[in-house]
Amino acid sequence: MCGIVGYVGGQQAVPLLLEGLSRLEHRGYDSAGVAVLTTSGIKVAKKAGRVRDLSEDLPKRFAGKTGIGHTRWATHGPANDVNAHPHTDTKGDVAVVHNGIIDNAAALRQQLTEAGVDLVSDTDTEVLAHLVARSDADTLEGKVRDALAVIDGTYGIAVMHADFPDRLVVARNGSPLIIGVGEKEMHVASDLAALVRYTTTVAHLDDGEIATLTATGFTTYRMDLSTTAKAATTLDIDPSVYDAGDHASFMYKEMLEQPAAAERVLRGRLDERFGTAHLGGLNMDPRETRAIRRVKILGCGSAYYVGQMGAALVEELARIPADAEAASEFRYRDPVIEPDTLYVAVSQSGETIDTLLAVQEIRRKGGRVVGLVNVVGSAIARECDGGIYLHAGPEVAVASTKALTTMFLGFALLALQLGRVRDLSIADGTRLIAGLTRIPGQIAEILEREEEIAAVATRLAEAESLFFVGRVRGFPVAREGAQKFKEISYRHAEAYQTSELKHGPLALISESVPTVAIVPDDELASRNVGALHEIAARRGPLVVVTHEGVDLGEVDAVRIDVPRNERELDPILLTIPLQLLAYHAALHLGHDIDKPRNLAKSVTVE
Ligand code: G6P
Repeated sequence: MCGIVGYVGGQQAVPLLLEGLSRLEHRGYDSAGVAVLTTSGIKVAKKAGRVRDLSEDLPKRFAGKTGIGHTRWATHGPANDVNAHPHTDTKGDVAVVHNGIIDNAAALRQQLTEAGVDLVSDTDTEVLAHLVARSDADTLEGKVRDALAVIDGTYGIAVMHADFPDRLVVARNGSPLIIGVGEKEMHVASDLAALVRYTTTVAHLDDGEIATLTATGFTTYRMDLSTTAKAATTLDIDPSVYDAGDHASFMYKEMLEQPAAAERVLRGRLDERFGTAHLGGLNMDPRETRAIRRVKILGCGSAYYVGQMGAALVEELARIPADAEAASEFRYRDPVIEPDTLYVAVSQSGETIDTLLAVQEIRRKGGRVVGLVNVVGSAIARECDGGIYLHAGPEVAVASTKALTTMFLGFALLALQLGRVRDLSIADGTRLIAGLTRIPGQIAEILEREEEIAAVATRLAEAESLFFVGRVRGFPVAREGAQKFKEISYRHAEAYQTSELKHGPLALISESVPTVAIVPDDELASRNVGALHEIAARRGPLVVVTHEGVDLGEVDAVRIDVPRNERELDPILLTIPLQLLAYHAALHLGHDIDKPRNLAKSVTVE
């Protein structure tokens, strides 16, 4: 959420900053800005709207070799030019970009106002610029330290100062910052995506660290300015994985990458000899694994819904009571943390603050948490006692597709391992392994039917409001389907248990309110079909995501048949057409697929 870039070196900063910002735009895209150190001091250009609006509107002679940039997701104050970052002090000697939230901003604003400072924006960040400017310290590092000493909250910041033109000072507390080491130049960004085109030699800042960047190198410090010995490492990454290539959007590219991502998350983790999974990263021996009495899964948004699918897998395969809960609610109900519960935090970004705070709450109370996380080295991955990396590769689109698929498979592996140290037979383990191995190919089969699914999506897009319904294993599928549809099509899409329709929502069914029903070929199929009749009797249009051979009777419905797998694993295959439905509905409506309104990829504020 929000993106930071910075540069100091021998090149003109602005083109590099703008390119970096465009790579971070999925993290916040309501306004953007850059500041550079010119021969006549700091100059700032900032604007509500997208990075491209900013670059089209840059003043002439906006040149400098030290600069910072930001793309914003508004928290304090509306998205307008003034509230966009960078923020400066009154004289314009200091410029600051900031990700995170300053909790005591209101009090600090009042103190500054009483001291005669004229605050021009509604933001929490502006106070930082004034505080840096007002510090008496001799160095920029000292001024930043003084400012941060009075701040409560989370931040990743980059600061420049006209009196210290050779450097940027950056600091982190809860919001990621990565230093990129170039040839006689240094970069900084809140995400690798903005760095990899320039350098893959990087150093991750830790919470509570400050760093100075000059053209020739970087130094890291603790908050008391004692140095920390931090070396950069060179990552083995192909920068092209961060590009959409020829694809019209990242979401489209990421949907197509699902078969490969599914193969990666499974690779090396299936033990065919013993019909189990091998998850070394969990850091639990069989005795500890057997001692687990309950599994509680925590995530937000799509990660929460796939967590519900995961809970079903754990209960079915391991026969351990399991449930999923929205991480954003968890710590506010003062949860009872049990020593024999395995807590599982699930997150693509590994940064979602609600999930991170839930992890911290559990650990504070002595619970054991493992992570299902995509981004290696992210905050949640680092906080957990162990985990399963998802290996989905970078996911840029706000609407999660390939990460979600790998999350499901991660849960299947976890459930298999938990099951096989209990009563799941080797025959069942082997059956599930065979099923898992078929999944990448079956996802590819569904993706090939894009055209047929797109035709259905175009019709659904016309409805103002629609239902997604499913039962038991199918219900989290319906929830995820509705989430995806509402995120990018902006249609009101509501998920319900099919069994609950008659207890209320049936009142809303009419010929203008379609229902997408999840009807797998399982023990509930005939009951599900009964509910379809009730919808059809109220003239509700029906799209049924099902398996070949499921008899829908006389119901007038558009059916989308997906390939069968093992019943426990079917949910992920039933989810794939729902991605295509949401994608094509949004495309038909002309929406920005990767940057849905009001949302952002990594939600690092509560
Ligand atoms: C945001 C996005 C959702 C996403 C959720 C969790 O709310 O809009 O699409 O599922 O964050 O993200 P995470 O990175 O923790 O998986």
